[in-house]
Amino acid sequence: MNARRGRDPSAFVFAPLPAIEQLLERSTRVRGTPGALADAVRYSLIGGGKRLRPLLAWHCARAVGGSGRDAAPALIAVEYVHAFSLVHDDLPAIDNDDLRRGRPTLHIHAGEAMAILAGDAMLNKAFVVLARATLPPALVTLLMEELAGATSAMIAGQVYDTLGGLPDDLPTIRKLRVIHLNKTGALLRAACRMGALCAIGPKPRDKRLAAITRYADAIGLMFQVVDDLIDVQQSSEHTGKRTHKDADKGKLTYPGVLGIEASQGEIERLHLKATRAVRELGAPAEPLRILADLMATRTR
Ligand code: IPE
Ligand code: IPE
Ligand code: MG
Ligand code: MG
Ligand code: MG
Repeated sequence: MNARRGRDPSAFVFAPLPAIEQLLERSTRVRGTPGALADAVRYSLIGGGKRLRPLLAWHCARAVGGSGRDAAPALIAVEYVHAFSLVHDDLPAIDNDDLRRGRPTLHIHAGEAMAILAGDAMLNKAFVVLARATLPPALVTLLMEELAGATSAMIAGQVYDTLGGLPDDLPTIRKLRVIHLNKTGALLRAACRMGALCAIGPKPRDKRLAAITRYADAIGLMFQVVDDLIDVQQSSEHTGKRTHKDADKGKLTYPGVLGIEASQGEIERLHLKATRAVRELGAPAEPLRILADLMATRTR
């Protein structure tokens, strides 16, 4: 393992991807659903996406002493909520985007009604996965609470991002932080915490979970600061989604408010915070440190 890590650290971090893809693929095989709905869900969930939330859940389970597979129900459920959030984020009424993961967005591919309904179905499916997991009931309850709370935060963040509603007297930089922590940070936090909980069991006060949570809070915010920079600095061809759109839409973004250099400074600060948070977990947290490096420097 060490030799492999020495050659290419990201190979070690991405090794679970085939297992993750298989878990997601299997989760889509359901009976009793209209064929066109099943196709729409598969279009959104399978064949694309960096799978960062599943990788985080997997490696958080390992970082607290479990196996990556312990996190299976958590990583599937979180990726369903993520896919739902992207389908609805792209809708004409929200970001009105026509490109996602290098392909037409779901409402372009299958129509707006199907995109709305497939989003609904994926949100519901996330909780079906947790409800049916063969885990102690107390753990299932905790996982459901975690995911429901994060989904509510994501929806609130999308409302602030799209429609506003934060207090007028809140300084702009504080507004930005609230939007980003909610619309993006909360689900990344849930991916990490749920993965760790799957390995630790229903012990919400565990010290290892506290370290994972500090890591998750830092990378959660950092992820959207990087996403804002990608919108300004990268092409649609490179990212597979439309870029150079946030400013035109009047979105509050880190580069828009702080400028590029200060945004990069913020990324560095959060990156360091994340790395420090998991130091106490030792060697098993190495993949989390590598993932934080990759998330800080990603360009798509
Ligand atoms: C994009 O998330 C949406 C945000 C929360 C910024 P990702 O960049 O993780 O999207 P995929 O899953 O890899 O396409
Ligand atoms: C998306 O933020 C956050 C979600 C809840 C999906 P963005 O609107 O910036 O994400 P992209 O750039 O479309 O992927
Ligand atoms: Mg958006
Ligand atoms: Mg968007
Ligand atoms: Mg964006």
